[in-house]
Amino acid sequence: MRNIHAILEQMSLSEKLAQMTQLWGEFPDGSPLMGLHYDFHSNRQLAESAGSILGFSGAQRTMEVQREYLACSDKKIPLMFMTDVIHGYRTIFPSPLALSCSWSPELVEETAAVAAKEASVSGLHVTFSPMADLVRDSRWGRVIESTGEDPFLNSLYTAAFVRGYQGNDISESDRLACCVKHFVGYGAAEGGRDYNTTQISEYQLRNFYLPPFQSAVNAGCKMVMAGFNSLNGIPCTANQWLFQDILRNEWHYNGLVITDCTAVYELVPHGYSIDNTEAARSSIKAGMDIEMVSTTFYDAKEELIRDGSISMELIDQAVERILNLKEELGLFDNPYKNADPELEKKYHLCKEHREAARRAVSQSVVLLKNEQESLPLKTSERIALIGPYSDNNRLLDIWKCEGKEEECNTLLKGMRDGGIDVLVSPPCTNCNLTCQAEVPDSLNCEYEAAIATAGSCDKIVLALGEPPEWSGESGSRAYITLPDIQLRLLDELHKLNKPIITVIFSGRPLELEQAAQKSQALLQVWFPGTEGGNGITDVLLAKSLPQGRLTMSFPRTVGQLPLYYNTLPTGRPQQTPEGCERFRTGYIDTPNTPLYPFGYGLTYTTFQYSDITLSRHSLNMSDVIHASVTVINTGKYSGCETVQMYIRDIAGSYCRPVKMLKSFRKIDLQPQESALVSFTITSDDLAYEIPGKGLLTEPGEFHVFIGPDSSTQNMAAFILTVD
Ligand code: GLC
Repeated sequence: MRNIHAILEQMSLSEKLAQMTQLWGEFPDGSPLMGLHYDFHSNRQLAESAGSILGFSGAQRTMEVQREYLACSDKKIPLMFMTDVIHGYRTIFPSPLALSCSWSPELVEETAAVAAKEASVSGLHVTFSPMADLVRDSRWGRVIESTGEDPFLNSLYTAAFVRGYQGNDISESDRLACCVKHFVGYGAAEGGRDYNTTQISEYQLRNFYLPPFQSAVNAGCKMVMAGFNSLNGIPCTANQWLFQDILRNEWHYNGLVITDCTAVYELVPHGYSIDNTEAARSSIKAGMDIEMVSTTFYDAKEELIRDGSISMELIDQAVERILNLKEELGLFDNPYKNADPELEKKYHLCKEHREAARRAVSQSVVLLKNEQESLPLKTSERIALIGPYSDNNRLLDIWKCEGKEEECNTLLKGMRDGGIDVLVSPPCTNCNLTCQAEVPDSLNCEYEAAIATAGSCDKIVLALGEPPEWSGESGSRAYITLPDIQLRLLDELHKLNKPIITVIFSGRPLELEQAAQKSQALLQVWFPGTEGGNGITDVLLAKSLPQGRLTMSFPRTVGQLPLYYNTLPTGRPQQTPEGCERFRTGYIDTPNTPLYPFGYGLTYTTFQYSDITLSRHSLNMSDVIHASVTVINTGKYSGCETVQMYIRDIAGSYCRPVKMLKSFRKIDLQPQESALVSFTITSDDLAYEIPGKGLLTEPGEFHVFIGPDSSTQNMAAFILTVD
């Protein structure tokens, strides 16, 4: 083990502050960000001693930069290369919100391991993933990067991502250190507007927003990134309660903390710091170790510590954590780690990785509707493939890393390769997916041809959706509808009275009520990634059976947002799920319930649940209860059912949610096959975080629900007594 202290003692303040600075490798088009240039080309002096580089990869390139850098570094402290590998590096998997619909932490771990393998041979050392933000508002474009609205499921996924990226030893080849983000509450941006204010009670933080981060920390993630947002009036980047009280003192986290991009500099426009030097002091005091892209730490130099508010000890602690991570990555011994141009050629987009991506697609798509057995398709059927996404390779969300759209297989290619007899009439060759062209009484583009094509076919597959740039960072929308011209096309096709299977490509839950009404089948495919066309076709043909379950509620209208299943009951709850009784919480113009609830998803078969059987109806703190159901496959296809168990605490020191997911089980059943599914409930499953008191279980009545999604009313009650 290298003597990090010895290195530290030899470093000047300027060298230390440079280590605490991360420069941009190359901003996409070289344009300034927040009005300032931050790439390492335009900061030559700082570039020669900056501790890490953002957004720069490639085996050859990173080796050259590392070599140049070390050549002019007398301390020989190696550079770290970091970037956002959030669902693949070159082989791109479905977006995280899609992957989360697999309800398979194992799948997520596998995709992260593949991503780490491809990224590490391209010279990367750290990825800014998992994104652990709990989301409830699909106006926010970054829901696509999340794993949804439930803290229990999100906690399983953050740990799975960490295991996949880091393995047991980040110095091993094919592994990355990872960074959980954005600590905390960024997903609650008011109005769903990116970067906006968040106001979150400690009760909500501790029971919904913090647990997925704690799960990532407990899984050993090496870095935590602060969110852009202000939280209850204090920007995360300068929030000592978050980073000192919670992260360091309560969770005993001793890894690195990094700001988000230019977030220190943004403390001034936040109205929190008077100038850049004050911003630098506030963020270092809060616990920021690395400043991403802005350079207020480095620019402040001795001014930083002149007033004594920042001690050299605090700076040394930050630098020590940075050097420790470089040591743990093995970079002092081998600054190139496993950057290798030959392995890049071998790993990137290799057959095994494409197969993994194809499997991930089929497990991530969610079947929302399927009537008149419109699906699965048969290769004997003649299918009209219509719509802007029919042969469009824009299947990657904006965080596509080194993924290339031209390497994606489109839906048309997938269907043709799958042996489907498909007639296609793609829209305008320059279709930008959101054609705002004036729509005359008949549709422009080549939709007339499409409609004619449909006339000679058995069924229509209609590929609609929003373009990738309408979601992701800075992709917030006030209207979450499909482009109007796409709805007009659906209307025209609906007049043909042929089965329409609508496939939705989107980065968020959209308003789909109209699309659902006019389609016999509805398949949500998100941004499916490199193997999109093949994976979707596997499901259309039942080569892979649909098994996805929503991890984020789909609203009937944007007016319902924020919308999530685990709400508090209120004093005037609606009496029935569809109820609209006056003087009870609700709208006069739409039900409270989502169009499609959390946990929902269809298969090609049907399942029946028995009532719940409890092993006992009361337990004390040391007992356990077994809650069981029998599930029968009552259809003619085999199917994978995700049996979900929710619990409600009927009364507590705080109002408790109407349901909280506590466990689930994926079971495969052949037609007419049944299975007994049993969940074990302990008093720990009934605990919740009480601000100021910690994690506690309170006696009283509890309801356990077991069913196919969060709207289930299949319930049994039990009592928890004090010993
Ligand atoms: C972005 C994002 C963050 C990302 C970082 C580096 O602004 O907020 O998620 O990791 O910058 O690209």
